[in-house]
Amino acid sequence: MKPMQVGLLGLGTVGGGTVDVLRRNREEIARRAGRDIVVKVASARDLKKQRTTNLEGIELIADPAAIIARPDIDIVVELIGGDTIARELVLKAIDNGKHVVTANKALLAKHGTEIFLAAQKKGVMVAFEGAVAGGIPIIKAIREGLSANRIEWIAGIINGTCNYILSEMRDKGLPFDMVLAEAQRLGYAEADPAFDIEGIDAAHKLTILSAIAFGIPMQFDKVYTEGIAKLTAIDIKYAEGLGYRIKLLGITRRTDKGIELRVHPTLIPARRLIANVEGVMNAVLVKGDAVGASLYYGRGAGAEATASAVVADLVDVTRMATADPEHRVPHLAFQPDRLSDAPILGIE
Ligand code: HSE
Repeated sequence: MKPMQVGLLGLGTVGGGTVDVLRRNREEIARRAGRDIVVKVASARDLKKQRTTNLEGIELIADPAAIIARPDIDIVVELIGGDTIARELVLKAIDNGKHVVTANKALLAKHGTEIFLAAQKKGVMVAFEGAVAGGIPIIKAIREGLSANRIEWIAGIINGTCNYILSEMRDKGLPFDMVLAEAQRLGYAEADPAFDIEGIDAAHKLTILSAIAFGIPMQFDKVYTEGIAKLTAIDIKYAEGLGYRIKLLGITRRTDKGIELRVHPTLIPARRLIANVEGVMNAVLVKGDAVGASLYYGRGAGAEATASAVVADLVDVTRMATADPEHRVPHLAFQPDRLSDAPILGIE
């Protein structure tokens, strides 16, 4: 069978990781997907930049818009980030009949409902495992493993940069700014790290989790959002003395009045599993009425951890696109035409 041909928008940390993983595990991936998946073309802002990724056989171009117009491209992988150019490109790719894989949480949290409606109309898929909790397959867990459950709440450490900062400040007594600079060097932080430390990135991810768990529209602007920028070494030390750890949590839960969504630093008793999630690791607790509480743990940021999720989506989309259209699972997680009208309760 002809390989599935991918156009990659963006060759940054995750883009490079995606090419590396696809190349290294090509045979296993082809076996699981039912056919080969190859990156044909990639766009990058700086074509001359020295990269560690082997780009042999991949056409490198400057203009991402040229990729989504190409008839030889089956799947567009959007790794540009942000929600302006990326929104235009993704909507255009959908309009051109391309399936889309994206790790762009900001884009989905703000424009997800619009994007999924466009995809549904066009009959293409949009997959986004890489948008939440890096390599942890949390979207698949909610969509597939927990699909029998009425979800009651989700609480998680969903920003690796903040968790890394809090861990390093507590364990090594390092200053906030120094640890943040290291998180940037390691490729964990957002292009603008204020998105991490102000809790915005976690709020983007929580918006997506809540939407797929409760079937509500993606409404990032309604989330109560407070980050870790105001925390000091003294706060961390006092919490420790009282037997607690401070973690930035994203929490969403079903209440009698509606769906609550909030991100803020939280004191957690030190004996709890989630209090012991350290460094760049993420952990997401999901409470379902049948299964009870279940915990998902893994690397929440970084090139190959996020690439693991992006490539898994490529495998999913390849399988579905190869299957008879009548037997496809629409859009792989989010059903924009069957939304609940439960009110969303951010906290003022
Ligand atoms: N900046 C994000 C984080 C990257 O630190 O979690 C992964 O989404």
